[in-house]
Amino acid sequence: MAKPLKNLVQNHLGNVAIIMDGNGRWAKKNALKISKGHEKGVSIVKEIVEESINQKIKSLTLYAFSSENWGRPVQEINAIKNLIISAINDQVPELVEQSVELKFFGDVAMFGEDIISKIKYAESTTKFKNPSLKLNIALGYGGQQDILSVVRNISKDVLKGKVSLDNIDGALINRYSCVPESSIDLLIRTGGDKRISNFLLYQIAYSEICFLDSYWPDFSRLEYINCIEQYKKVSRRFGKRV
Ligand code: FPP
Repeated sequence: MAKPLKNLVQNHLGNVAIIMDGNGRWAKKNALKISKGHEKGVSIVKEIVEESINQKIKSLTLYAFSSENWGRPVQEINAIKNLIISAINDQVPELVEQSVELKFFGDVAMFGEDIISKIKYAESTTKFKNPSLKLNIALGYGGQQDILSVVRNISKDVLKGKVSLDNIDGALINRYSCVPESSIDLLIRTGGDKRISNFLLYQIAYSEICFLDSYWPDFSRLEYINCIEQYKKVSRRFGKRV
């Protein structure tokens, strides 16, 4: 993240996104099966959701499964699918109590009927007029794929006469994108690598980015609060002279 300047007014934190990396390496470090790393990873999500509500964050967007993750071994993919189902079964009642609105985005059709019907149940059960937090989960998502699909679908609608070229602007792109948030204030990546890995390419244009060495299953509420405190103090200029 950029160095803080003499900035007396703290930045407002609306939209946070997290690349939860390091489950596999955490499992290896602890001589466990990779699925145990993902299992522990889900338990950390619960703590981070709680803290996001405490911090009055508007939305938390998590990278649970990328388009490229389909290239992993079938056993691992099946373990993640089972975890998604059990996380929905176990967590939805608590999310309802907390007024957390759950949304899944990406190519979820690839996950099959069991998960699609769970997703429908989770989304329809967690609709709130004033949610305490919007929790968005990327499943089968890739930033490049989303941009491609936006370009294709806008072009189709231009050809059909539904959209005129003059009306193509940022707001229209956001409407055609599957990503629920139009911009991200703070992006956190755990696991030690300093890259974006095809996550929210369009939406992170002016995000503050926090790269952390901790593996996701070791990520803690305290580290999360530290990222948020750093973010609040940073001078965000959006390319302007302030
Ligand atoms: C990255 O660690 C993690 C994933 C690709 C999967 C994350 C999925 C979950 C935590 C389960 C689903 C979550 C929800 C919220 C329903 P990695 O395996 O790439 O770690 P490595 O880089 O150390 O191998």
